[in-house]
Amino acid sequence: MIPTQTLSRFIHSQRKRYPDSTGELSDLLVSISLGMKLISQMVATAGFKGLHGYSGEINVHGDEKRILDDEADEVLVELLGSSGHFGLLVSEERDSVIATDASHNEGKYVLAFDPLDGSSNIGSNIPTGTIFCIYKKKDENRAAINDDFCQPGSAVVAAGYSVYGAKTSFVYSTGSGVHGFTLDPSIGEFVLTDPDIRVPERGTIYSVNEGNTAFWDDRVKTYVESLKRHDATEKGPYTGRYVGSLVADFDRTLRKGGVFLYPVDAKRPTGRLRLLYECMPLAFIMEQAGGSAINGPDRIVEITPSDIHQKSALITGSPSEVARYAAQVHAKGDVKGR
Ligand code: AHG
Ligand code: MN
Ligand code: MN
Repeated sequence: MIPTQTLSRFIHSQRKRYPDSTGELSDLLVSISLGMKLISQMVATAGFKGLHGYSGEINVHGDEKRILDDEADEVLVELLGSSGHFGLLVSEERDSVIATDASHNEGKYVLAFDPLDGSSNIGSNIPTGTIFCIYKKKDENRAAINDDFCQPGSAVVAAGYSVYGAKTSFVYSTGSGVHGFTLDPSIGEFVLTDPDIRVPERGTIYSVNEGNTAFWDDRVKTYVESLKRHDATEKGPYTGRYVGSLVADFDRTLRKGGVFLYPVDAKRPTGRLRLLYECMPLAFIMEQAGGSAINGPDRIVEITPSDIHQKSALITGSPSEVARYAAQVHAKGDVKGR
């Protein structure tokens, strides 16, 4: 008996559930996981190679780009653009859609990704990660077009993320549960460590950047204050945890429960996070694990993106905490920043 269920063996074992599967999705998930191994290595050794700095460029969101943002972007564009699976790519680090080697008719899918999430934490050894979301083209008989990215969560074929931390982990879902893997450096393989992850119905951790309090709507303030009261849980107030890397805050919320929130505010009236390659894939995963993910009034997976770099708010985690936010903050109409 081979002691380890590697990613490729596990994905292969899952194919039995889909008799007509071509194995293409399995192949592309393994390609993506190779990209994550390469980026993990890049992040781990960046300090020796002077790659912690800024590239001097500003991305489409107005963020200063780190050298590693571009390095990670290039690894994924090269690896996945030449895989033959994707007609088009979207990267957080590129203003417009990326054409690929596949003549668009071959590439059955389109892929959106955040090559390096949490890059403001680079250099301080705080976890970062990669996030991806895969859609099938709306029409397989034509070349991929931008509109293939404008589909709601119900059209997501696969989504996942990695966390480059004390260990390198990979979590994905193809719509049949959420499965977690850990990179075993001794064999260079992602090994199944967390099959069928389920988010706890409720938790005791809340995660938000309280530095934005002055810009929140009063109802958001009241909600966050309510988590700090003695009677907030049976054991007293919630505990606050905020890493500032979405993948790390999300991964903790997925496994331990509670709530992560980045609401709209006066400085970011349409939200700080990106819908297509941050909120949508993570919302797909959270709901697959039995949790909830909203932008405030709406379920994230019910939103159809209209722009590849569209912003969004994100409130996600245990169903009871997210429902409480929706009731306290949105029951009385739309929320704006202050
Ligand atoms: P990225 O590094 O891909 O630009 O993402 C950064 C995001 C996300 O990782 C995190 O949750 C959020 O920015 C933190 O924003 P604040 O610094 O405003 O809290
Ligand atoms: Mn990000
Ligand atoms: Mn990023």
